[in-house]
Amino acid sequence: MVSTIKSRSRAVQPVASVETRIANRLRAASKGTPDYWDFRDCAEDLASKCLFQYPAMMVPAMQKQVIAAILNVRPEVETIADPFLGSGTILALAMLSGRAFIGQDINPLAILIAKTRAFSLDQTYLAAAVQRVNTFANSDNSICYDIRFFRQTKWFTRGANIGLSRLRRAIRVENDLNARRFLWVCMAETVRLNSNSRTSTYKLHVKPEADRTANAEDVLNSFAGIAENNLKVVADFRASLLKAGLLNEAGQYNQRIQILYGDTTKKFPSHNGVPAGQYQVIITSPPYGDNKTTVPYGQAAWLPLQWIDLKDIDDAIPKDAVTGYYDVDNRSLGGTRPRNFSLRQETLAQAGDHTMRYIKLLPLQECSGSFSLGGIKV
Ligand SMILES: C[S@@+](CC[C@H](N)C(=O)[O-])C[C@H]1O[C@@H](n2cnc3c(N)ncnc32)[C@H](O)[C@@H]1O
Repeated sequence: MVSTIKSRSRAVQPVASVETRIANRLRAASKGTPDYWDFRDCAEDLASKCLFQYPAMMVPAMQKQVIAAILNVRPEVETIADPFLGSGTILALAMLSGRAFIGQDINPLAILIAKTRAFSLDQTYLAAAVQRVNTFANSDNSICYDIRFFRQTKWFTRGANIGLSRLRRAIRVENDLNARRFLWVCMAETVRLNSNSRTSTYKLHVKPEADRTANAEDVLNSFAGIAENNLKVVADFRASLLKAGLLNEAGQYNQRIQILYGDTTKKFPSHNGVPAGQYQVIITSPPYGDNKTTVPYGQAAWLPLQWIDLKDIDDAIPKDAVTGYYDVDNRSLGGTRPRNFSLRQETLAQAGDHTMRYIKLLPLQECSGSFSLGGIKV
């Protein structure tokens, strides 16, 4: 979903003409290739390029072209926003195109991943932290569980509980918050792979006993492999930023980034926080349906979030934000069957107003399969 929002003070071209030019660029890209926008091969490559297997991630190669088309027509765009941030695909692409970014999500795990991406540290520094955690956790002989939560022994074997507890203790003694965030993301993926919940679904479903993690060492090996991969992901990303001259002397991204924990149906600062005279682009993928027909983002995040210090993610997250399985989904747009359907329709309609006009200009008839927005076929 793409939408351009105009701030109040500067006269600009009519939106339709901008949209037409953007659509023309995208149409030209797909000329002669009917299934061009499917990007099937790219979707398969996603696993190696992300820090965590977040549900329903956008395909970066596709969004990159959309952003390039918009920025080509509107080079003066300074800020890109994503009010349903998820794992931060648009954040990463906004950074790679040298723009400021505002993003928000109601899922603490999304905020953790996005902050890790946005404020990532030098790979050598992170590698040293990973090394310390591996050493600390491997020399920890305690069989104590570092944390207790609802139905813990249903979702983790004794070996997994012990291994994850050793990792948690090792991560918590790290001093640097940004390093801890990187380590927590690695921990999240370790939890996902070593819990008793199936990895083939984002819902919590127990897997057969034969597939469960046997002992603590398996967990530590799993973490070491994930951390090694994630170090490469961060290093590649930072190398691209460096090459584009987008890192300052301190090694940080040189544009403003805001990652907010919050409910976009209640408030999204970009609506009133765009500096005068600026154009802002919203590119996002909100959840479109209910729990039965779409993805339960909160459920998918529940097990990892039991092990992670929420205060390391964002001060605004309440302590009890992820107590029950469905807490995050119940607060989300689309996570459960709507209790207040009109609010949901209204939010989608607001975001969709610009988008519908824009989407109608795209060569969607050339794409295979159908396309719908908020249940409306276009
Ligand atoms: C389709 S996912 C976004 C995926 C993202 N584009 C990516 O590439 O990873 C939708 C996101 O909307 C978030 N969400 C759902 N309801 C929300 C709400 N009311 N406020 C903020 N975020 C919400 C979910 O937590 C989820 O991360």
